Amino acid sequence: MKVFITRNIPDIGPAKLRASGWEIDQWHSDDVIPRATLLEKVHGADAVLSLLTERIDAELLDAAGSQLKVVANLAVGFDNFVVSEMTKRHVIGTNTPDVLTDTTADLAWALLMSTARMLPQAQKYVHDGKWTTWGPLLFRGQDIHHATLGLIGVGRIGAAMARRASGFEMKVVYYDAYRRQDLEEKYGYHYASSVEAVLLQADFVSVHTPYMPETHHLINADRLKMMKSTAILINSARGPIVDPKALYDALHNGTIWAAGLDVTSPEPIHMDDPLLSLENCLIVPHIASASMQTRDNMSELAADNIINVLTHKAPKTPVNKDAVVAQGLA
Ligand code: DGY
Repeated sequence: MKVFITRNIPDIGPAKLRASGWEIDQWHSDDVIPRATLLEKVHGADAVLSLLTERIDAELLDAAGSQLKVVANLAVGFDNFVVSEMTKRHVIGTNTPDVLTDTTADLAWALLMSTARMLPQAQKYVHDGKWTTWGPLLFRGQDIHHATLGLIGVGRIGAAMARRASGFEMKVVYYDAYRRQDLEEKYGYHYASSVEAVLLQADFVSVHTPYMPETHHLINADRLKMMKSTAILINSARGPIVDPKALYDALHNGTIWAAGLDVTSPEPIHMDDPLLSLENCLIVPHIASASMQTRDNMSELAADNIINVLTHKAPKTPVNKDAVVAQGLA
């Protein structure tokens, strides 16, 4: 068996794969593998351990060859997979849900708190030597406690965000295509019948939907105008869910108060992107799942998915069950 790993990742997963005695090839770099090299490297592979930076499409699947059995993404999101092409070829795709839920919600929460209380601006002020006295008007932010948290999407990570809100005695309002009556009954969350209904009442709007054609620019100029002028937008899902030009205008014109972004469109953000000129826009480089423990867990889960498929067992976290059935592993 031949396995190709597309980047340097925590070694716990690659070490497990090496222990199998299979031929393990890895792109030992912290940079994205050039597409042409990737197409060469996957040739003849039975399994590929990929990142969200690699598009797994017809071209790549053809370059790999018909022996390819599984592509294991080191991410919960798999918008880099063309799932229909994978399933058509009976190639199983897997992702890394659950192991990163709390770590991702922690970072989204950190963005919420940092933007609400203006921490980046305050730190810069101190570093710039501007702190001369206690000031009653200095860095007045927005209250988090008792405010309303609006969730667009209440899957695993959205629900973890809501759990964090309870310690701050916040009201939680959510919109999701699937109504979660269990969460409403257990925790008192409020269901909103549309994205707009969330935007109109929330002090903090946190986006937790997958990226797909239906969610492209879900947060656009019209919807930003519905938000409170004191509201803060948090995006730790995928950059293109928010229209970046509309977000710039909304932040620049004071339509909304601030934004905290773990993800941008494009990624990485261009250095001349106007969002970078705004103090009320906190941007970090897609690090929501980046803790030592969670990245180890993601690496191990991705490797386990490959090991299972290559030893004729069902993968732990498949994204296309039809391909699992087609390989006789269900
Ligand atoms: C994911 O898992 O989809 C994140 O965006 C990367 O950790």
